[in-house]
Amino acid sequence: MKEAHRVIAIDGPAASGKSSVARELAQRLGFLYVNSGAMYRAITWHVLQHGVDPDDGARIAQTVESARITCCLENNQSRILIDDVDPTDHLRDDRVNEGVSRVSSVPRVREILVAKMRSYARHHDLVMEGRDIGSFVFPDTAYKFYIDASPEVRLHRRAAQGQRDEIAARDRADSSRRASPLVIAEDAHVIDSSNFTIESVVGEIIGRLKMKGLAI
Ligand code: DC
Repeated sequence: MKEAHRVIAIDGPAASGKSSVARELAQRLGFLYVNSGAMYRAITWHVLQHGVDPDDGARIAQTVESARITCCLENNQSRILIDDVDPTDHLRDDRVNEGVSRVSSVPRVREILVAKMRSYARHHDLVMEGRDIGSFVFPDTAYKFYIDASPEVRLHRRAAQGQRDEIAARDRADSSRRASPLVIAEDAHVIDSSNFTIESVVGEIIGRLKMKGLAI
């Protein structure tokens, strides 16, 4: 089914710069910004708070099914509440970084969150970033980008953010899981951001969108 509104998909591995690019792009276009990784992180935080082992797929599925997940908007950005709790301040905790690839590989978690992601496009033009947005969540959109950067640059970016994040291990897990792994969608435009500023990557994307006829 084709989405009701325009969707720009920005996928890529951890610390590739896609969040900064997607946020800036959404702001420039006046589109809603949705960080799908934050949704998986929120669920991960919730299951860890409930003492669930991130390798126990069945219990994770059960815990997520019984949670009340509310997706809302604030300043033109998506926000997720779980059982009325806002986990925003915990999304980058070490234990969330460590568990998120395992929790997000549980098919039921993906099913529930993908339905929420798609529902954003019923009412809004949006820029959504993630791992499988162009390949799985919105395969019909004509606007797909894959942002990459060299492993050295990505490690440096995370270190500069003061975070402990095993990005190589997460990339391996995200790319090899069975349920909609990280892949470059066939029709995605690939940009290596290693040597470019956010502004120039956003500029390249906007140029490309215009070439494709997106009225912006
Ligand atoms: O973008 P991020 O690093 O905040 O994402 C955190 C994790 O969430 C990532 O390691 C895998 C998962 N994820 C996913 O499986 N699918 C998405 N569309 C986005 C994120």
